[in-house]
Amino acid sequence: MKQGKFITLEGIDGAGKSTQLAWIVELLQRVGKSVVVTREPGGTALGEQLRAILLDKTMAMHAETEALLMFAARREHLDKVILPVLAQGQWVVSDRFTDASFAYQSGGRGLDSDKLAILEQWVQGGLQPDLTLFFDVPVEIGQERVSQIKNRDRFEQEQADFFQRVRAAYLERVKQFPDRIRIIDSSQSLAGVKDAVEQTLQPLLNYG
Ligand code: TYD
Repeated sequence: MKQGKFITLEGIDGAGKSTQLAWIVELLQRVGKSVVVTREPGGTALGEQLRAILLDKTMAMHAETEALLMFAARREHLDKVILPVLAQGQWVVSDRFTDASFAYQSGGRGLDSDKLAILEQWVQGGLQPDLTLFFDVPVEIGQERVSQIKNRDRFEQEQADFFQRVRAAYLERVKQFPDRIRIIDSSQSLAGVKDAVEQTLQPLLNYG
């Protein structure tokens, strides 16, 4: 059976990727794909518990603890969801994956990216998403959207300079992996973003 494709969504908090998730699923289903939607950190029973810890704003932790928990959740996610689903020929759309660790834990928190690369190799070997959509907005726009949220989580409550570093690290990843990671300008109208998503997915939509 043909392996499914693995698509991931990235962006700073407030970039609007969750809004586009439903659209991506619709586009894939229109061409007959069977799609499993999931997220990180999370996607499994254990991973969701780790997510609750990671997002809890009362839970102070060392930046390396944060990174290790992200990768622990990812190990479980790959084993229980991503790999089996792809092997069954279904497609996986994940709201965040390893690029987020490079952006948030290395860019945002300042961890050495070589350490993350070791964890990446350990946890996922050579596996990479087939396509990553990076929803890009200026930090001020992301911050404006996040400020509407009543109960902000441990990441959402970070200041603008943190998100500047996260965004810069994402843009660095885009430069490093231009074939895999595609930028979607999310500062335009919702309709404009939807069009851009559709165009970017087109090569995969045509894939048998
Ligand atoms: P997010 O995807 O923004 O979910 P929601 O839209 O429900 O708030 O929340 C996940 C948070 O976790 C986000 O702030 C980024 C952070 N994160 C990391 O710091 N490193 C990672 O490796 C991943 C997967 C997420």
